Amino acid sequence: MCGIIGYIGEEEAAPILLDGLSKLEYRGYDSAGVAVYSKDQGLNVVKAKGRLEVLSRLVDGGKSVHGTVGLGHTRWATHGQPSDINSHPHVSHSGKIAVVHNGIIENYVKLKQFLISKGVAFVSETDTEVVAQMLEYYYEGDILASVAKVLARIEGSYAFGIICSDCPNQLIAARKDSPLILGFGKDCNFLASDVTAILKHTRDVCYLADGDIAVLKQDQVTIYNVDLEPIEKPHSHVDWEISAAEKGGYEHFMFKEIMEQPKAVRDTVSPRIRDGKVVLDSVNLTADYVQNLKRLYIVACGSSYHVGIVAKYTIERLVRLPVEVALASEFRYCNPLVDENTLVVVVSQSGETADTRDAMREAKRLGARTLAVVNVVGSTIAKEADDVIYTWAGPEIAVATTKAYSAQLAVMDLLTLYLGDLKGTLPAPEYDAILGGLQKLPEQIEEILSRKEDIQYYASLYFNNQSVFFIGRNLDYAIGLEGSLKLKEISYVHSEAYAAGELKHGTISLIENGTLVVALATYGTLFDKLMSNVVEVKTRGASVLALTTDSRRVQLEKETANIRPVDHIISIPDAHEILLPSLAVVPLQLFSYYVALLRGCDIDKPRNLAKSVTVE
Ligand code: M6R
Repeated sequence: MCGIIGYIGEEEAAPILLDGLSKLEYRGYDSAGVAVYSKDQGLNVVKAKGRLEVLSRLVDGGKSVHGTVGLGHTRWATHGQPSDINSHPHVSHSGKIAVVHNGIIENYVKLKQFLISKGVAFVSETDTEVVAQMLEYYYEGDILASVAKVLARIEGSYAFGIICSDCPNQLIAARKDSPLILGFGKDCNFLASDVTAILKHTRDVCYLADGDIAVLKQDQVTIYNVDLEPIEKPHSHVDWEISAAEKGGYEHFMFKEIMEQPKAVRDTVSPRIRDGKVVLDSVNLTADYVQNLKRLYIVACGSSYHVGIVAKYTIERLVRLPVEVALASEFRYCNPLVDENTLVVVVSQSGETADTRDAMREAKRLGARTLAVVNVVGSTIAKEADDVIYTWAGPEIAVATTKAYSAQLAVMDLLTLYLGDLKGTLPAPEYDAILGGLQKLPEQIEEILSRKEDIQYYASLYFNNQSVFFIGRNLDYAIGLEGSLKLKEISYVHSEAYAAGELKHGTISLIENGTLVVALATYGTLFDKLMSNVVEVKTRGASVLALTTDSRRVQLEKETANIRPVDHIISIPDAHEILLPSLAVVPLQLFSYYVALLRGCDIDKPRNLAKSVTVE
């Protein structure tokens, strides 16, 4: 949550900062601000509640703020509601030091009381202002020394950008448990929460680690450890195209990313299949290790957690290994039954989700081996896990995940095959059938995307519904969880995903005339049982939109001609059962997208949310 950027160079900083912030807005978008230094104006801080465009208007696109060094911030409020005052940058009481921050200072109350007792007056409700004020409290002419003292006193997570008007030829960056990268340009240098913010200017970056402090000058960057000893860090080259993080003519990132799913799945799967086998170069599990495993945990949040639920069904079925799926925020505090015979798989698009990261650390502490499925290269989770499998989905900007989710599902399928092979539980014909099916997924997803107008039509029928239920059994239930989350997060329609057989134990009382029930009926083995549940809701007045496979559609259409158990049918191409979730999710994403569009929602930046959840 929150995006930060810093620039030091020869060009006017403000337009560069604003442009960078526009790429970071997915991290938080309730207010934004910049601090730019110039000899004439000193440290000029402009900040405003609202989207970046409000700030941009205030500073005339950056033209009214001069100076070649500065910091920018886009906020997702934690301490203090969105307001001009609570926006970053925060400045010390003399106005000499400005700070932008992503993270949470957990002991800020204690530190604030301490500073107040020393006569320091505060203007905002934020934890970050405490840092700005402390920097000045400890400042004796050497800002780096003051930073080191403050870092030693604060607890919590942070990525900081700091500027001091006494030494305006430098910016300071520091990180702990919040992402921060440095970018090395020609006659300029950058700090940023994410490479997308600086990709226009450089592809030469360095990922800071916890405890690193960096001093950026126009022509030089020095990185220090916590003891202020200079250290060397490797540079990385970012090789994806800038266009990958731009809308490219689409109205929304979410729609673009939905349409990019065939590529995301293909890029994730193809390089990992060689000579008819799954090859996971970055994973070093032995057959012995897998055969001795007692349990596998999948730990994640949100949509990544839903991937875990799908994978539980497939791994238990094909690898015959007990799988626990845990919400990362719960796993950390439930004294989990984890030891050296447990493999803990953590799934995270961003690789920075605080709960998932800390759950992984807890699993390691308990002796488990950890394997991360991550999209963002160089992210904390990717770096700290014992093994990593990257989802090659490319940058995902929309807050609602789509292509990263699909790539995660594909990785879990690869992992299932890999584990099944090592454990010897997968007969060759089934292994080959799934592998072949996985390779066909991209073209089948394309086929579904080509039918998008049908889904748009159904969205136009139901976009005004106040409540929607997604029901399914087994893998269909798992995919319903994701369909339901997509709908509520971007369209603000209340929805629930229910295991179809469980409805009659209470929730069916919510079904009334016109309630929309999306019946997920792709899973052949349980098709008839699911249809019985459909009849139950239909009898109580529900409108039923069924999602099934092309071949079952034919069967359903015959039945609906006489008894109409469903009102409408969406279908997906036939595939191996365990791969159906990868297809079924696509119409559900499109349905949510079109509903949100018709309801006039801010699709890429839904209210109250942020893409990367770096606070607990
Ligand atoms: O980056 P992560 O995969 O760890 O994020 C976890 C969730 O915050 C995320 O999946 C969230 O639920 C989605 N943005 C919803 O679309």
